[in-house]
Amino acid sequence: MTALAVRDEAGADPAFRADVLTGLAERQKAVPARWFYDDAGSRLFEDITRLPEYYPTRAETEILRARGGEFAALIGPGRAVVEFGSGSSLKTPLLLSAIAPSAYVPLDISGDFLRAAASDLAAKFPGLPVYPVEADFMREVALPREVEGLPKLGFFPGSTIGNMVPATATDLLRSMRETLGIGALLLIGMDLVKEPATLIAAYDDAAGVTAAFNRNLLHRINRELGGDIPVELFAHEARWNDDYARIEMHLVADGEFSFSVSGRRFTMRAGETIHTENSHKFTRRTSNMLLQAGGWEPRARWTDDAGQFALILAEAAPPRSAP
Ligand code: AVJ
Repeated sequence: MTALAVRDEAGADPAFRADVLTGLAERQKAVPARWFYDDAGSRLFEDITRLPEYYPTRAETEILRARGGEFAALIGPGRAVVEFGSGSSLKTPLLLSAIAPSAYVPLDISGDFLRAAASDLAAKFPGLPVYPVEADFMREVALPREVEGLPKLGFFPGSTIGNMVPATATDLLRSMRETLGIGALLLIGMDLVKEPATLIAAYDDAAGVTAAFNRNLLHRINRELGGDIPVELFAHEARWNDDYARIEMHLVADGEFSFSVSGRRFTMRAGETIHTENSHKFTRRTSNMLLQAGGWEPRARWTDDAGQFALILAEAAPPRSAP
């Protein structure tokens, strides 16, 4: 995902500028992870998905390949598949060939990605109507009239939900429920808690691709927001936060120095960090609780053979009296 192509007088995305200037002024400096994905960042992420240490993409793809028959039985044919974030991967075709849907509706904030993914899919599935929608799916989205009467299946792979803190993840799940309606199903990928050493290796690979992905954010700030950040003075760090069950990516200052962004001055102490990403990891119980908090009732759950990653099928059940 990249942001809507809005530009200010200086040719920068005002939302990017605001997020960076606000985040760098906080006590724990931080930049939201969504800004990783400029062209270079998106290419680096594609490289990450092929790294030996980065298991999530392979594990989720394994589930999609192995469990097509079970998806078909539980989901049934004729649903409109609404993908949150347009699939640039092979995951979407695997799902679509398994369940015989009646339409495919990719939602993405970036029109370019969206159109590319939509025409890709349309070419692979000649009979399938494809209705791309350019929208910010963090809010309720009005779906195309053509799919109004159809039963829906939301698809949110990749454990992208793990990038959000629980309050934001819950908001998103509730928006998805509004967008898709009562009775809709959601197939959502969630990465699982495991040995910290395995998790840290997945986010700090030997070839340094994730380090380059993390540092690319600083290059982007320098280029797009008139910054002079000394990128080579920042080290990549992936740490396991056990209290919050998440991997955090940080950029660690190697010494004390200052820099400016958009004419504002910022100082780093030696060892101080800029927090750039959270990647939450789940257990069966925490994933169930998060889904329920967002208005989704878990119905089925699959993992890869090694038990590293889960795909969960949930239903937007009608409100009922508790308990
Ligand atoms: C695309 C958000 C799922 O958290 O694993 C990969 C992004 N960051 N390596 C993840 C990412 C560093 C990825 N998600």
